Amino acid sequence: MNDVLNSIPFILKGIIVTLEFVVVSGILGFVIGVLLALAKMGKSKGLKRVADGYTAIFRGTPLLLQLIYIYYVTPQVTGWDIPAFAAGVIAFSLNSGAYVSEIIRAGIQSIDKGQFEAAQALNLPYWKTMRHIILPQAIKHILPALMNEYIMLVKESAVISVIGAVDILRRAQIVAADTFNYLMPLTIALVIYFTMVRTLEVFGNKLEKRMSYSD
Ligand code: ARG
Repeated sequence: MNDVLNSIPFILKGIIVTLEFVVVSGILGFVIGVLLALAKMGKSKGLKRVADGYTAIFRGTPLLLQLIYIYYVTPQVTGWDIPAFAAGVIAFSLNSGAYVSEIIRAGIQSIDKGQFEAAQALNLPYWKTMRHIILPQAIKHILPALMNEYIMLVKESAVISVIGAVDILRRAQIVAADTFNYLMPLTIALVIYFTMVRTLEVFGNKLEKRMSYSD
């Protein structure tokens, strides 16, 4: 019992690892998602095909397998070892980008075509139409969905423990194996993840309320 208590700080340090992981993957995933969404809605048929294919592949295979694939296949093909954290960031941002691109595309395309046509009739340039008319409306659909994506990232990040990244879950498992006490460390891990997710949810709900003010 005492050794479990002593190792609580070790588990808590995993919060930093997990948060760092989620923030980096989330930002990169968002950038990839925006680029893909632009490709999907753009004029080029070729780019649209590539973006659609990309999305199909990353949504059509398990994230766990994508992670393991990047971690083990990369060194074999390139001869370069890849740290678990980096492999995780690559897998998660590539994967999240696919989901984010659909969130953005669907959000923008949910806005009635008439809005676009009206702006065009007034000779408003494309980017001004986007910035002042389409995006302010689309953001109401996009933000809640993005929030879900980031909640998913926090929870799913526990998967990187399988390739040895020392995140919250991994640390809890190390303590469990060291102390032969599974109940305490794993319960601590549950509480930590739950707290992180609830925090995001509360923040997301506040944001949503604010957004719906103008309705
Ligand atoms: N467990 C799911 C999978 O294996 C997670 C998918 C990731 N989802 C996401 N919204 N990025 O595919």
